[in-house]
Amino acid sequence: MNILILGSGGREHALAWAVMQNPKCDRLIVAPGNAGIAKIADCASLNADDGGAVVTFAEENAIDFVIVGPEAPLAAGVADRLRDAGILVFGPSEAAARLEASKSFTKEICDAANAPTAGYGHFTDAEAAKAHVRANGAPIVVKADGLAAGKGVIVAMDEQTALDAIDDMFGGAFGGAGAEVVIEEFMEGEEASLFVLCDGEEILSIGTAQDHKRVGEGDTGLNTGGMGAYSPAPILSAEVEAKAMEEIVKPTMRVMAERGMPYQGVLYAGLMIKGGQPRLVEYNVRFGDPECQVLMMRLGAQALDLMQAAAEGRLADARVNWAEDHAITVVMAANGYPGDYQKGSEIKGLAALPEDSMNMVFHAGTKAEGDKILANGGRVLNVTARGDSLTEARDRAYAMVDQIDWPEGFVRRDIGWRAL
Ligand code: AMP
Ligand code: GLY
Repeated sequence: MNILILGSGGREHALAWAVMQNPKCDRLIVAPGNAGIAKIADCASLNADDGGAVVTFAEENAIDFVIVGPEAPLAAGVADRLRDAGILVFGPSEAAARLEASKSFTKEICDAANAPTAGYGHFTDAEAAKAHVRANGAPIVVKADGLAAGKGVIVAMDEQTALDAIDDMFGGAFGGAGAEVVIEEFMEGEEASLFVLCDGEEILSIGTAQDHKRVGEGDTGLNTGGMGAYSPAPILSAEVEAKAMEEIVKPTMRVMAERGMPYQGVLYAGLMIKGGQPRLVEYNVRFGDPECQVLMMRLGAQALDLMQAAAEGRLADARVNWAEDHAITVVMAANGYPGDYQKGSEIKGLAALPEDSMNMVFHAGTKAEGDKILANGGRVLNVTARGDSLTEARDRAYAMVDQIDWPEGFVRRDIGWRAL
């Protein structure tokens, strides 16, 4: 089977690593890929958001199966174009991708599904939004409706912050994403994520994870794309996961199908858990980054079979072969991230590290220059390890971190602290 993965981050390196181990995979191309991916697969330059270009590329390269990594191509309808061309693809349609691309859409679907989530108001003008904030008081959460690269959510602990956020959003700070605004009740609790595969009808859980969104230790400081993750997330116990499936995920998928938008791909449910009750924070229509890295570490080669089963509508017969193991990934980021940072510094010591089913350094923002690996982004490496316990996995991951010689980068030293 010839496989094309769209994307260029640590998530896509982890997907490529899992897919490559499956004997079904004859050839793997990742577009655009990165320096780490280039060591295990062919990389091609391709605009992943351009459905026509992706279809042409897939046809020219005799691709049998396309796996879409990030949300932007999905929101742009790339999966629809591939399906129209008769090419097997893992990822939802443009219509179904609105579960990530529009917060108000998701809230309406949750209403119809009677899924537990934060109370909300949906606004198209600033004055009405501000009146809602004044009526409800802080803490309160202001969200740009559209895709804003993870930056469109302001958790306002006081009223003025919320009012300012509304002005920013309607003032165009998030471009078109902020033309509509959703204001939500502030939910307390602990966050964790549930990942399920869907084939339009059937749903299969493929694991839980917890991300660390803040840049600083103890979950302090600015929000980032994620500084580390681990799987499984103990807060998502079997009981809580079953509740999330029955009360949130299954009803959502049922409503999507009833409305003519059956969901196919991975659904990432961000949950807030308090007193054993999960509530939905958000859906994403793709794997999390870096959560994907820990899920792939635990699933290995079977990930390809599972994604293919979802794409072919065969999830009813699919099973996950679970090991009672734990995985952790520590993000190495460029000094200054998530603010300004330099690109181009050299990362040394990678060649001496183990690369096997227990230890992997996935690349995110890297670039090769001759034999050298250079930093080429904010989040640069995902140092990932597996173990019989989270402690064992963590010790293994940080032992690798300590062998990497990159003074221009930093890590959080406390990944996994909530579970440990
Ligand atoms: P989102 O992009 O919707 O996941 O929001 C980003 C982050 O904001 C989430 O991971 C939560 O930490 C926080 N957040 C979003 N919505 C709420 C809410 N209603 N109550 C409390 N925190 C929230
Ligand atoms: N790590 C958070 C995300 O992928 O959205």
